[in-house]
Amino acid sequence: MHIDPLEKKWAQIVLIICALFVFILMIDALFHGVNAPSNVETINSATLHLSKEFAEDNLGVQIDEKGNVIVRMVAGRYSFFPKKITVPAETRLTFRWVSIDVLHGVHIPMTNMSTMIVPGFVAEIETSFPKPGDYPVLCNEYCGLGHDHMWSKIDVVEKDQWLALQTTSTGGADNE
Ligand code: CUA
Repeated sequence: MHIDPLEKKWAQIVLIICALFVFILMIDALFHGVNAPSNVETINSATLHLSKEFAEDNLGVQIDEKGNVIVRMVAGRYSFFPKKITVPAETRLTFRWVSIDVLHGVHIPMTNMSTMIVPGFVAEIETSFPKPGDYPVLCNEYCGLGHDHMWSKIDVVEKDQWLALQTTSTGGADNE
C-alpha cells in the first residue's frame, strides 16, 4: 500500500500528540490524586433528614474518633448545604456528598474535587486545600433552571487557626 510521505509524516505527528495527551493525563492523575470515586455506598435520598449521618445537625465539619476531619455536605436544588464551612489548609479532608433530589456535580477549582453526586449514593472524596482562602463550590452537572446559580463557599484557614476555632466552638461542627 502506498502512503504519501507527507501523509505519513502527519500521521506520525498525530500519534505523537495522542501519546503526549495520555502522558499528561497519567502524570496529572498520579500527582494530583485524580481518580474515579469508586466507593459504591448507597443511601436513601428521600429520608436523608432522618438518617443518622446526614441529619441537619451532623452536616458540616466534624472530627471523628480517629482524628480525621470529615465534611458532610448535601446538594439540593440549588445550593450545597451548609452554605459556608470553614476547614483547615494543608490537611487531609474526607468529603462525603449526597444529593437530596436530582443528579448534581461538585467542582472546587484548584483541588482534585470534581465528581458527580448521584441520588441514592454517597460520593466520598479525599482532598486537601494547599493554602488558606475562599474557595467556590460549583455544581457542574445540569440540574435544572437554577443550575447556573448553584454554588456555595468554603473558607480555608491556617491549621492552627482552625484548631483554635474547634476548641472554642461546641462539638467541632461549623454550622451556620
Ligand atoms: Cu446542581 Cu447543577
